Amino acid sequence: MNYDMRRFVDKTVIITGAAGGIGLAAAERLAAEGANLTLVDMTGDGLARAKEKILVNHPETKILLVEADVTKEYQVRAYVDKTVGEFGAIDGFFNNAGIDGGQYPLADYTKDLFDKVVDINLDGVFLGLKYVLQQMVAQGHGRVVNTASIGGLMGWPHQYGYVASKHAVAGLTKATAGEMGPKGITINAIAPGGVKTAMAIEAMRTINPEHPEEAEAAFAARVPLKRMALPEEIAAVAAFLLSEDASYINAQIIAVDGGQISQS
Ligand SMILES: NC(=O)c1ccc[n+]([C@@H]2O[C@H](COP(=O)([O-])OP(=O)(O)OC[C@H]3O[C@@H](n4cnc5c(N)ncnc54)[C@H](O)[C@@H]3O)[C@@H](O)[C@H]2O)c1
Repeated sequence: MNYDMRRFVDKTVIITGAAGGIGLAAAERLAAEGANLTLVDMTGDGLARAKEKILVNHPETKILLVEADVTKEYQVRAYVDKTVGEFGAIDGFFNNAGIDGGQYPLADYTKDLFDKVVDINLDGVFLGLKYVLQQMVAQGHGRVVNTASIGGLMGWPHQYGYVASKHAVAGLTKATAGEMGPKGITINAIAPGGVKTAMAIEAMRTINPEHPEEAEAAFAARVPLKRMALPEEIAAVAAFLLSEDASYINAQIIAVDGGQISQS
C-alpha cells in the first residue's frame, strides 16, 4: 500500500507484539509514514522476519529489535532503555502484545491459565506504561495506544482471563490518562473486533476444529460489515491515535469492530 502521509518522520515508536498480526501491520504502516521503530516480541526469529518484511517496502526504516517478554519487568526496562539509547526519545508507544488463552467453561478454566492471560494482557501493559511513561514525562510529550478488545467493552462466555484483562486495560487507559494529560501525553486504547491474525484464526479452529471457515462465517454474520477486519485496518487507527492528528483525543477506548457491539 502507498500512503501519502508522512506523520512520523523523525519520530520513534515502540511496538510490542510486533512479530505478527496487528503489531506487524502497525509497524509496516508506521514505517511507511517515516517512523523509527523499536519492535518488541518474544521470539528473535519472528522479529527478524518482521524486520525483513518491513525493509522490503521501506528499506530506509531504522529498526531496533528487542527480544523481550512483556511480563518481565527487567526486560521491559531494557526495551525502553535500548530505545532511548538508540533513538534518543520515545514519541509513540503501541502497547499491543497479548494472547487470548483459549476458551473453556468456567469450571474448566484453570487458575494457571487465568493468571497467564492476565499476566501478559494486563501486567505486560501496566509495565510498559510504567517505564515508557517515565521517559515521555521527561521529554514532556508522547502518545500511547494500548490494545484492548471489544472484550474490554462487553462480556462473552469462556474467555474469562481475556475479557477480564481487556476490561482492565480499558480502566488502566483511563486512569493513566488522568495523570499524564497535564504532562503533555495522551493515552488511548483501541478495541478491535475480530481481526484476521494468527490469534483469531486459532480461535476459529477452537470453536469449529473441522470447519473453522464456518465459525468465521458465523462470527462475520454478527458484524454489520459482514466480515472480520484486516490487521491493516486496525493498524490505521493505531497510527492515527499515535499521530498529531489525534492531539485532542485522550482517555478513550475506540472500538474498531465493523459496528459489532452496536448490534448486541
Ligand atoms: N485478532 C483479534 O481478533 C483481536 C481482537 C481484539 C484484540 N486483539 C488484541 O490485539 C493484540 C494483538 O493480537 P494479534 O491478533 O495481532 O495476535 P498475534 O498472536 O498475531 O500477535 C500477538 C503477538 O504478541 C506476542 N506476544 C505474546 N505474548 C508476549 C509476551 N509475553 N511478550 C512479548 N510479546 C508477546 C506474540 O509473540 C505475537 O507476535 C492483542 O493484545 C490481542 O488481544 C486481537
